Amino acid sequence: MKQIFLSISLLAALTASAQQLPATYPQLVKDITPKLVEWRRHFHQNPELSNREFKTGAFIADYLKSIGLDVKTNVAKTGVVAILKGGKPGPVVALRADIDALPVTERTPIPFASKVTTSFNGQQVGVMHACGHDSHTSILMGTATVLKKMQAEVPGTIVFLFQPAEEGAPDNEEGGAALMVKEGVLDNPKVEAVFGLHINSTVPAGQIQYKSGSFMASSDWFRIKVKGKGAHGSKPWQGVDPIATSSLIIEGLQHIVSRQSELTKAPVVISVGSIHSGVRNNIIPEDCEMLGTIRTLDSKMQQEVHERIRNTVQHIAAANGATAEVMIDTKTLVTYNDPELVKKTLPFLETAAGKGNVVERDWDTGAEDFSFYGAKVPAFFFYLGGMPKGQDPLKAAPHHTPDFYIDESGFDLGVKAFCQLVFDYAKSKK
Ligand code: NI
Repeated sequence: MKQIFLSISLLAALTASAQQLPATYPQLVKDITPKLVEWRRHFHQNPELSNREFKTGAFIADYLKSIGLDVKTNVAKTGVVAILKGGKPGPVVALRADIDALPVTERTPIPFASKVTTSFNGQQVGVMHACGHDSHTSILMGTATVLKKMQAEVPGTIVFLFQPAEEGAPDNEEGGAALMVKEGVLDNPKVEAVFGLHINSTVPAGQIQYKSGSFMASSDWFRIKVKGKGAHGSKPWQGVDPIATSSLIIEGLQHIVSRQSELTKAPVVISVGSIHSGVRNNIIPEDCEMLGTIRTLDSKMQQEVHERIRNTVQHIAAANGATAEVMIDTKTLVTYNDPELVKKTLPFLETAAGKGNVVERDWDTGAEDFSFYGAKVPAFFFYLGGMPKGQDPLKAAPHHTPDFYIDESGFDLGVKAFCQLVFDYAKSKK
């Protein structure tokens, strides 16, 4: 009896070992860890704006070619896609990093702070990796290196997506994940699951945070143009005041949130971030323009909010004798983590991070164009800790700000998480 038991467990161990991470794996991760920091600092000192990541793309492509991967360049303009065919049978899995920086002037005291400037929308601006995409790029390069070194043991095919323009392409340009998908990065070979991570300046290094189902918000940008009729400021009844009408519209937009949206289902945010009209105290201008953003965590509610904004704006304008135009441009969809995929792969992340270091979190009204991959194939996007351990998250500088700071000690967990997902996901398919 005992003997049978032993041979069954031996058999189980042998079967499992077919796709177990090889014994060399811990040392490979250790070896690559200093490179993660070195690459990240290189990208940090050489940041490039969305759709302008020429040197970044070339650096990534040159490196991946040098380690023998099958590399495609100029994908979605400056992006890079690399493919690794493992020595063992298994599924096609995509891993994604975004590579672009932001028009932010860095203010951190770190020795490798960015000094780069460029022109953006006609203004001279600083350029900074103020969202941490530099760390995503180096983590994915590190993952590619480790997997390449274990190629004979790797199950299935890994598609590495180095994606430009996550922060949004410049006006009148296509870009980002939507363009990657349009160019077929998930089609050939046919990807069956895609994973991505985002470093987070308020999550302690060594931790992973996730949410199943809707995780990050859809983002729409809107422009509302209110047309009134000019008049002397002393005699408003002779005109139609577009500023007073716009103030009612702003009120009306908040009523869509507080009175018309089913907030127990999912949150909705509407923010007006810019309003422009008029030149002088005593002139009622002819028009007023507002710019803003809409965030939702349910794609049906996203469509409902669009309709309600159009309805509210048209009727408030009409009630005041004005006319109005509403333009809504969808930038990202809801980032949806496939619940089945999350359930299946969560234990793999726990193996990588250690028990207690994978933590469920609330939804996030921030947005991610990773959502475009998730709209096509089952996807899982999670946060990777980038905050010094012990720091108060409320004191950590937010993403997209000049003081944004990332602790580099959690980068190796990014590599471990990706490698573990590759091996264990394949194993779970058996
Ligand atoms: Ni980002």
